Amino acid sequence: MYSLLEQLRQSFSQALVNAFGEDYAETDPLVVPAAKPEFGDYQSNVALSLAKQLKQKPRDTAQQIIDHLDISELCDPPEIAGPGFINLRLKPTALQNLLQTIAQDSQLGAEKAETPQRVIVDFSSPNIAKEMHVGHLRSTIIGDCIARILEFRGHDVLRLNHVGDWGTQFGMLIAYLREAYPEALTKADVLAIGDLVSLYRDAKKRFDEDEQFQKTAREEVVKLQRGEETSVQAWKLLCEQSRREFQVIYDLLDVELTERGESFYNPFLSDVVQELEKTGLLEEDQSAKCVFLEGFSNKSGERLPLIVQKSDGGYNYATTDLAAIRYRIREDGAQRIIYVTDAGQSNHFAQVFQVAKRAGWVPETVELVHVPFGLVQGEDGKKLKTRSGETVRLRDLLDEAIARSRQDLEKRFAQEGRSESEEFIQKTARVVGISAVKYADLSRNRTSNYVFSYDKMLALQGNTAPYLLYAYVRVQGISRKGNIDFTTLANQSLSLEDDSEFVLAKHILQLSDILKEVEKDLLPNRLCQYLFELSQKFNQFYDRCPVLQAEEPKRTSRLMLADLTARTLKLGLSLLGIEVLERM
Ligand code: ARG
Repeated sequence: MYSLLEQLRQSFSQALVNAFGEDYAETDPLVVPAAKPEFGDYQSNVALSLAKQLKQKPRDTAQQIIDHLDISELCDPPEIAGPGFINLRLKPTALQNLLQTIAQDSQLGAEKAETPQRVIVDFSSPNIAKEMHVGHLRSTIIGDCIARILEFRGHDVLRLNHVGDWGTQFGMLIAYLREAYPEALTKADVLAIGDLVSLYRDAKKRFDEDEQFQKTAREEVVKLQRGEETSVQAWKLLCEQSRREFQVIYDLLDVELTERGESFYNPFLSDVVQELEKTGLLEEDQSAKCVFLEGFSNKSGERLPLIVQKSDGGYNYATTDLAAIRYRIREDGAQRIIYVTDAGQSNHFAQVFQVAKRAGWVPETVELVHVPFGLVQGEDGKKLKTRSGETVRLRDLLDEAIARSRQDLEKRFAQEGRSESEEFIQKTARVVGISAVKYADLSRNRTSNYVFSYDKMLALQGNTAPYLLYAYVRVQGISRKGNIDFTTLANQSLSLEDDSEFVLAKHILQLSDILKEVEKDLLPNRLCQYLFELSQKFNQFYDRCPVLQAEEPKRTSRLMLADLTARTLKLGLSLLGIEVLERM
């Protein structure tokens, strides 16, 4: 076991049993990283709560714990502070040994989950024939990061794109397609349809202006649902064209997804309603079939219904999600299902989860989690818009980030008198631009809104992707300058001396704990904060301690520390979906 925190927790648990008996085997030893460096590296407050139960003075309880605690390999003798806190200070040798061990591990000591789960991450999920908007961008970035971390932890992850590929809007679109692009339909020619957003706009205009067309559109919905061949073909054409547009974004972001849209669950929708009927949950309200919810009421205090079948017999978004839950648990064997959408859908998920549970479709062992996120705002604090007031196209947003990152690079290169190849500039601008957008999103607590600012996200200073990428580049610079092959260092010995070396070393060793936290709380900003602090601590070390100029054995030891920092950064960034650069 590499995690210091885990090792200490286990030793404490053992000490509690030895001191107070088996009854205390399950007591949380409350070991946490120390709040301040004066308190050492870790601390435990368990004596304070235990003393009450044991009717002792907390300091006496603390002493009894210490008397039974065997951590002399890892720590200096523990100290009791204040009312009964136990403070722990790591031994330099323990740190050195552990660092040496993880240096030889390709996963840098980050552990796998003890019991891997089958996990579904439902993310991105844009709607066919509509523009993918910034909300979908957030979902794509956050969902991909969560999936990457869970995969790394050894879980069996299914990344599902629950695209909105069904619904009445397709009647209008197909009717319009038949009118405006008959030849696209006969030749099944996807490209002939052109830009779907304008197609949608034109179809909508036609729909709003012409009653006859509205009737045709409605008939088209029925035909599609009946599975009539040309309607299905037109629908497929629209989906295919959308899919191509989405794929451009996924390629740019390097995100992988398996598409399983709403339409996939069509065959199961009537079963959902039937099963709800059987369980006695189904009620009728104004001729719609619904389940009345617990804990949700309207302004006048009446219970709110979740409608699963409308009065016209049609099903809706919630019915599809209910069918999806059943399918994912029964057929996919999911043990944890994670939904990444904006916070605006929180009620939807709370309601759907509740009904699924009351219907008995969710075994105790299965966890359903909604992972909500806030809005993306423009620098004026309002909803993000283009200068002319339109919604921002994702493609344009990403291109702009790349273009601005390119401008910054060119300016910097000119100042430094560097001449770089076009290929280098293009790749660097792309990596920096895309990373900046991803990192700006991931580094905030996802539940809050965030202000989209190219200037801030592209800055070389501050909690930004360029700052982190640059720390990595600095280490690679050392290797180039000193002609060092880091791979030959892995089994050398380390000796820490300077304070900044200790600080950095201890931080490196926390990776495993951080990843476990993110796995549990699904907050990628924790990993970002960890990597940001890692870069800062590395920079402090590098400013204070000469590396290439140092005498041996210090030189080798410092090179190892630098390399470990870089490898930790590279691994951590890869889990955020960010690729590193060797130079920038
Ligand atoms: N298509 C939906 C939207 O754009 C998101 C779907 C989220 N996933 C789900 N299972 N409901 O808002």
